[in-house]
Amino acid sequence: MLSWKQFTDYAAELQIKSEYVAQTKNFFDAIDPDFFDRIFNAEKIDQEEIKAAFPGEEYRRFLLIMAVAGLPSMKEHYKKMNFSQQMLDDIKPDLGLWVDKFVAETGFPGLDLRIYGWTLALRKGSILQFGRLQCNYDHAFYGKVACFRNSEGEVYLEPCEEHNDKALFSFGDPAINLHIPAAGPLKRELCIDALRKMVKFFAAYRPDFNYKAVVCYSWILDPTFTRIMKSTNLADFQNLGHLFRMEGVDETREVIWRVFDISNGTAADLDSCPLNTGMRKAVAEYIKGGGRFCEYGTVILREELEELLK
Ligand SMILES: CC(C)(COP(=O)(O)OP(=O)(O)OC[C@H]1O[C@@H](n2cnc3c(N)ncnc32)[C@H](O)[C@@H]1OP(=O)(O)O)[C@@H](O)C(=O)NCCC(=O)NCCS
Repeated sequence: MLSWKQFTDYAAELQIKSEYVAQTKNFFDAIDPDFFDRIFNAEKIDQEEIKAAFPGEEYRRFLLIMAVAGLPSMKEHYKKMNFSQQMLDDIKPDLGLWVDKFVAETGFPGLDLRIYGWTLALRKGSILQFGRLQCNYDHAFYGKVACFRNSEGEVYLEPCEEHNDKALFSFGDPAINLHIPAAGPLKRELCIDALRKMVKFFAAYRPDFNYKAVVCYSWILDPTFTRIMKSTNLADFQNLGHLFRMEGVDETREVIWRVFDISNGTAADLDSCPLNTGMRKAVAEYIKGGGRFCEYGTVILREELEELLK
């Protein structure tokens, strides 16, 4: 098991707030090092065993310590893959952003199990970051749409159930899949810059990855947002590509979690929340009025990138 000194050094490098690190000390000191090593080095995380060892919510502190302890293996992976120092520097703050969100939600520093899984993906290089945006190292599109061009050359999308050989791009095709860390405003120029870096990266490191589009699946792509509130950044992001609805994926709870830091929240929970941003005001009003959010996806065809990135 790592020492307290190593833990604090890694946490500082990952930009986790020092007060959260300090609040972890007593819990850290009480961990059985053999137990830690066994769980940390196991092929697959045994959540039942962790939950049994740290009852209630305490196991989530353990997850945070494991996530921090993963820093050296992430660095090793980056070295082995010859990924740049800039890429490592770009992705390092991600864990701290998740800890901030966790504290806003629960009041103590820890990590959700789902986010621990996410940190494993960062560690293994399955998720990479280029400036403002992240993407998968590899991805097959799972939106149920196929893209075509009409006689005027305009791109249009049609629903599909499986891969369509005649389409320019459809379900199952390789794609660069975007993720948006909670790292401040989503400025258009930062997104364009990130896309440029991704295109360069895949050309240099993954010439075998014959991606046909850049895609994203997210709550922030629901066009409802640009209808109910004043937003430049979300509107700009939605306008980068061709939007489509992920049929059947209700994102109302996800939106409540993302916007109000309440997991599994409902309309009733919003009464006690400060409506201190434009989005909070608009979303609270909309949900209390019976509105629902849906997951949307977006597609930017590879052949459209040149124009977008010039
Ligand atoms: C996506 C994100 C960066 C957009 O933020 P942004 O660029 O500030 O968005 P906008 O410019 O459209 O914001 C308009 C208003 O909504 C607010 N807002 C934006 N995202 C918000 C959020 N998640 N929670 C609360 N308020 C938010 C802004 O503060 C701004 O408020 P104001 O009008 O009072 O100044 C932001 O929502 C975020 O960090 N989300 C978390 C990460 C995430 O969910 N990623 C997608 C994963 S699928």
